[in-house]
Amino acid sequence: MLGKLTASALTLCLAAGFAASASAGAPSDWSKIPTKTVKLFYPGQSSYQWLRSPGHKRANKKTQKGDSCISCHEGEEEEIGKLIVSGERLEPAPIPGKEGVKDLHVQAAHDGEYLYLRFDWKTQLNQEGRMHNMVRYDGKEWAFYGSHRASSKVREGKQPPLYEDRLAIMIDDGSVPMFAEQGCWLTCHNGMRDMPDMATKDQVKAHALLGKALKKSDVRKYLPQTRTDGAASWDKTKSAAEIAKIKAAGGFVDLMQWRVARSNAVGMADDGYVLEYRLFDKGKKMFSWNVDRKTMTPKYMFDESKVGFKALREGDFTDPGKPTAIIEEINAKPYDPKAGFKEGDILPGRLLTARTTGSAGDNDYAKGVWKDGAYTLVFRRKLDTGHPGDDKILKVGGVYTVGFAVHDDNVTTRFHHVGFPLTLGIGVKADITAVKVD
Ligand code: HEC
Repeated sequence: MLGKLTASALTLCLAAGFAASASAGAPSDWSKIPTKTVKLFYPGQSSYQWLRSPGHKRANKKTQKGDSCISCHEGEEEEIGKLIVSGERLEPAPIPGKEGVKDLHVQAAHDGEYLYLRFDWKTQLNQEGRMHNMVRYDGKEWAFYGSHRASSKVREGKQPPLYEDRLAIMIDDGSVPMFAEQGCWLTCHNGMRDMPDMATKDQVKAHALLGKALKKSDVRKYLPQTRTDGAASWDKTKSAAEIAKIKAAGGFVDLMQWRVARSNAVGMADDGYVLEYRLFDKGKKMFSWNVDRKTMTPKYMFDESKVGFKALREGDFTDPGKPTAIIEEINAKPYDPKAGFKEGDILPGRLLTARTTGSAGDNDYAKGVWKDGAYTLVFRRKLDTGHPGDDKILKVGGVYTVGFAVHDDNVTTRFHHVGFPLTLGIGVKADITAVKVD
């Protein structure tokens, strides 16, 4: 028997047992690598469609033509973010007190095999956002507990704000028209979750491609090239065959998300892409459901012999010594309804594993630590993942477009901070230069 494992002992187990090797987080001294400060700002509902409408004063035609956002907005991030977050423009439901801008510090390095990125940024709350889709026992049954800060349940004070913090990276190699100029804004559309004219569940389920073929019930990021009309409407999708052709030609955006609850506990980041929808790469990713959402029965509970408890309690959320993620191969035990659960016991609604497969498991080293009000994250990514079907293959000497976003303070969807697109040079000068390390 292992006895009680602390969170740090668990981390050690992970480091020893999982994919990453000793040199995984190279370079050894990040203080020698130049730092770029990227101003992320709150975008509200500034969708692809809004940017091309007369509402985007005197700029709609130039935006349609493909002019870059920074050709007009360089240095305006703070001004735009503060204006929108206040609710004065493009934000019908402001979150009181939310920050309008966020400084993201970025450092980059590479060797012959990997790109290494190091980020740090301050959090609005003085705590980590590591709780996500938790389920709580009320003495009789389990129900989801907590939600994101913009949900009506949280706004009305019926549920606590509990949602994971995230950092997202988009990368393109020049294959996606206009991505270099307009970046993430090409992927954000009316009809999506929490955007104007949000599509209903029934509308999406009835849609031949998104509902019937992809089995989706909401609209998420997509690229205009996958739609048939000039407005790039969510429902005007090209055929599956046409979309497959675009994908084969590399016309997708690589999207990777480091998630505090759903990936950081196994030292990884997810791997996805944006094309006709925001999709995950092929293979098994690091998180799945730990609860049957029809019967609300958990699948696993904590293994008491390993961590000293079978469920969490509310106060544990802010205790950095307590692991809050259930990891199949480390601290999980099949759920036993007779284990003696008490009212107020809480289990993660998500199950983690480091036993990923295929392209979905490419980001096998993404380690973030929250301390004194800020995250520090080191992320590595193979230059050539070996999966060109759903990843951008990077080369030493290449220059790429990157877009970054941070979800901070228990939010999801549009309630994040995003940046204008930047260039990333692998060993060559760019907005962010990845310097060579041995
Ligand atoms: C041709 C110049 C031009 C281009 C290109 C342009 N904008 Fe604008 N943008 C403007 C002007 C002008 C306004 C209106 C400012 C006002 O109303 O005071 C504006 C307003 C905005 C606003 C609303 C906030 C505000 O300050 O009023 C957002 C958000 C915005 N632009 C984002 C973008 C993004 C994202 C892109 C790139 C996809 C972009 N813009 C491209 C000129 C431009």
